[in-house]
Amino acid sequence: MNVKLLDLDRQYRKIKNEVMREVKAVCDSQHYVLGPNVKALEEEIAAYSGAKYAVGVASGTDAILLALMAAGVGPGDKVVTTPYTFFSTAGSIALLGAVPVFVDIEPDTFNIDPNALERLLKKSAKNVKAVMPVHLYGQCAEMDTIRRLAHRHNLMVIEDAAQSIGARYKGRAAGALGDFGCFSFYPTKNLGCFGDGGMVTTNSKQRAEKLRMLRGHGSRRRYYYDIVGTNSRLDEIQAAVLRVKLKYLDSWAEGRRKNADKYTGLFAKAGLGTALKVPEIRAENVSVYNQYIVLVKKRDALRKYLAAKGVGSEIYYPMSLHQQKCFKDLGYKKGDFPVSESVARQTLALPIYPELKPAELKYVVSTIVDFYSK
Ligand SMILES: Cc1ncc(COP(=O)(O)O)c(C=O)c1O
Repeated sequence: MNVKLLDLDRQYRKIKNEVMREVKAVCDSQHYVLGPNVKALEEEIAAYSGAKYAVGVASGTDAILLALMAAGVGPGDKVVTTPYTFFSTAGSIALLGAVPVFVDIEPDTFNIDPNALERLLKKSAKNVKAVMPVHLYGQCAEMDTIRRLAHRHNLMVIEDAAQSIGARYKGRAAGALGDFGCFSFYPTKNLGCFGDGGMVTTNSKQRAEKLRMLRGHGSRRRYYYDIVGTNSRLDEIQAAVLRVKLKYLDSWAEGRRKNADKYTGLFAKAGLGTALKVPEIRAENVSVYNQYIVLVKKRDALRKYLAAKGVGSEIYYPMSLHQQKCFKDLGYKKGDFPVSESVARQTLALPIYPELKPAELKYVVSTIVDFYSK
């Protein structure tokens, strides 16, 4: 049996006619950039996440970059985030000449450890302008504490919700839990387009206005530039695709949760002991499982074995950001963030997409059980 980590073809085949009709309508209109689909999608995403405003941009990375710019982050400022995330969380901070300051993660949720954040800020909050929690794999960070600390130290809260559209924390959706929410529509995300795309959400009219200027070279009026921005626009074809998919997003997330429950049940039954640890979702969270991540012993050998048996898997992420060559000058060393470093040696993502068939899921589990019984 062959089980891909993600098989987007199955989703595409189900919605192909609907999507193609909308794509054709865009082509027939010849209106390709910032048109009616982008405007409608912005309103739909704002309503979906419970934020007042949403601004479409060119990617999740740009969503973070523009949110940081709109928050006024610049050279010399510090932004606190986690070293265990996709590169662009910290890369965007560094691109602006600001300094990423890392705080270790919790071992069970893989999200920023609020106690470690509190300790760091207590020691020194000098020049810290913002905190950027990452809602990793589909589960929100512990936002109450993060918001309380941000309020105490006068920091902006920028949510990296790239992997977590639709996720809920105490009943509220990701993207409306801070000052800015950043989404990615990269194809592998739960709401993925046919290329690159992203969105920033905010409750502030002024910040939304600034984001709109920043994505269009800093101008409010054509050829008059009030601030320096960039070209980061969402195009109409992507917005049209995303509007079709948005209608199915909650049912797809439900399918992912069902698969996660099945995995968790089957792994418990298999009695793998300490060889494999299933993901933990906090009581206050509803995860959208962009990834189903297990912590495993002999990870690299298991991954090889799975590949040989036709099962796709992935390592998100093999090396924490504080150990990356490009961040050498930040002065961190091995051992500074022991939880992130230990998790980086053990995580493995298994197929979780909603169209995964029960027999395929069982095959993934039985292949893993075979590996550990050898
Ligand atoms: C946590 C996180 N942040 C940021 C991004 C960047 O999004 P994009 O790839 O759309 O630029 C991603 C996705 O790749 C991500 O997973």
